[in-house]
Amino acid sequence: MSQPISIAIVGSGYVGLVAAACFAEIGHHVICVDNDEAKVQTLREGGIPIHEDYLPELLNRHRGKLVEFTADLRAATKAAQAIFIAVGTPQSRAGSADLSYVDAVASEIARSIDSYKIIVEKSTVPVYTNEWIRRVVERNGVPRDLFDVASNPEFLREGTAVVDFLHADRIVIGAATERSAELLKRLYLPLTSGEYYRTANAVPGPRAQADPPPILLTSTKAAEIIKHASNALLATKISFINVVANICEAAGADVEEVARGIGMDSRIGPKFLRAGVGYGGSCFPKDVAAFRHVAEQVGVDFGLLREVEKINEEQKLRFFQKIRSALWTFRGKRIGVLGLAFKGGTDDIRESPALDIVQRLLNEGCVISAYDPAAEERSREVIPVGPQMQYAKDPYEAAQDADALLILNDWQEFAELDLARLRYTLRYPIVIDGRNLYDPTGMTENGFIYLSVGRPGSSQTLDPVATHYLPPPRGRAKA
Ligand SMILES: NC(=O)c1ccc[n+]([C@@H]2O[C@H](COP(=O)([O-])OP(=O)(O)OC[C@H]3O[C@@H](n4cnc5c(N)ncnc54)[C@H](O)[C@@H]3O)[C@@H](O)[C@H]2O)c1
Repeated sequence: MSQPISIAIVGSGYVGLVAAACFAEIGHHVICVDNDEAKVQTLREGGIPIHEDYLPELLNRHRGKLVEFTADLRAATKAAQAIFIAVGTPQSRAGSADLSYVDAVASEIARSIDSYKIIVEKSTVPVYTNEWIRRVVERNGVPRDLFDVASNPEFLREGTAVVDFLHADRIVIGAATERSAELLKRLYLPLTSGEYYRTANAVPGPRAQADPPPILLTSTKAAEIIKHASNALLATKISFINVVANICEAAGADVEEVARGIGMDSRIGPKFLRAGVGYGGSCFPKDVAAFRHVAEQVGVDFGLLREVEKINEEQKLRFFQKIRSALWTFRGKRIGVLGLAFKGGTDDIRESPALDIVQRLLNEGCVISAYDPAAEERSREVIPVGPQMQYAKDPYEAAQDADALLILNDWQEFAELDLARLRYTLRYPIVIDGRNLYDPTGMTENGFIYLSVGRPGSSQTLDPVATHYLPPPRGRAKA
């Protein structure tokens, strides 16, 4: 492949680690830096701290050859031509992005620069961060001609991160100088030329040699805004369809049909029109808030985003009320929960609507038995095992003797349950599905009381005509 470039990636989390593995996969030398020494040790020994498809294969392929791990940022900076900052940018108390990790890393990089380097923002950051990094580096005495700061926002999705990186929809490079733009273009050349897709063992995905990802060169400010605006728009789409779902629920229409009809419009597209329990994760909530703050700072009222956030909060509450509508009272009720991560395919529980709902149920005195294929370990740290909280090894153990089963994220496994087995595992055959994984008619035919989001019969009412017949509990006489 094209000429290898030495890079350092600071922050070995969901973005940094995936970027490191993928840059190595396309032939570059990568030093992956993290200040969490235990994480570095785990990575060196072959452990992988996050759940992500293809990541183990790529790291095994390149560890010790094209990827190495260290806690020594100074040495990594000296060895690299480009240094990517991929540390967290969490939400501050005020709602804006907390850039203290970026600031700390920029200062430390500056103290080690002794030849020309490109510092690249990979973290999601507000507009002007680029300028701030430049200022911090200059304040540390680095001459202006010894570095550039560029922006290369990351659009990967957890759960499909490796494929998203290697088969990107687009690669955005915000660069202020020809020199930095050229180096970043060279870095991605194996992808943008299509060369990577014809190599043996290339990770499969939607791109091909004849259809490589396009590269978009912009100003640094535009690149920063592109990332925030993209996430804000995706979150808006989710909140929008959730409100439409609530209208459908009241009117007796099916939001799945409605979403299909909307999504067939090529101007709109079908993605992110899945009604559910609201968005979560480490990006959308904080990025919507941060973008709203950016707008405020520059004197623009982005009230739409306030509404998006409000709808999202209300959606979780609405789902909680739906559970109440099915169970009447909560204290002592046993509830099976499928899904703890903020979505299927990941172990990330940050801002997970599932955990929010579980916590509310625990506060109401429910006893929970929860299952998630990848997020149990992280969930245990937040909600430890106790008299009210247990973790199950599979969906049926979670459902065992439960008064109801909740589906809170969309792992494929949850859409393929053995319904006959489930029917007799539950104490009452009540399934409350926050991700619309099943067909309501099929569930009713299988003997379930099935409540979902935005579909006819999606919630229980006290109207005697509309109230579902509640079958006798399992084990009791069926006269
Ligand atoms: N997670 C996603 O899906 C995603 C997608 C696109 C963009 N982003 C953005 O990328 C950035 C990183 O997100 P993430 O999910 O990978 O975060 P993360 O929390 O998983 O990883 C951040 C890593 O940075 C390390 N770190 C913090 N300070 C450090 C320092 N001073 N020196 C070295 N390492 C340090 C932490 O130990 C941690 O391992 C954020 O700005 C996020 O918004 C995330």
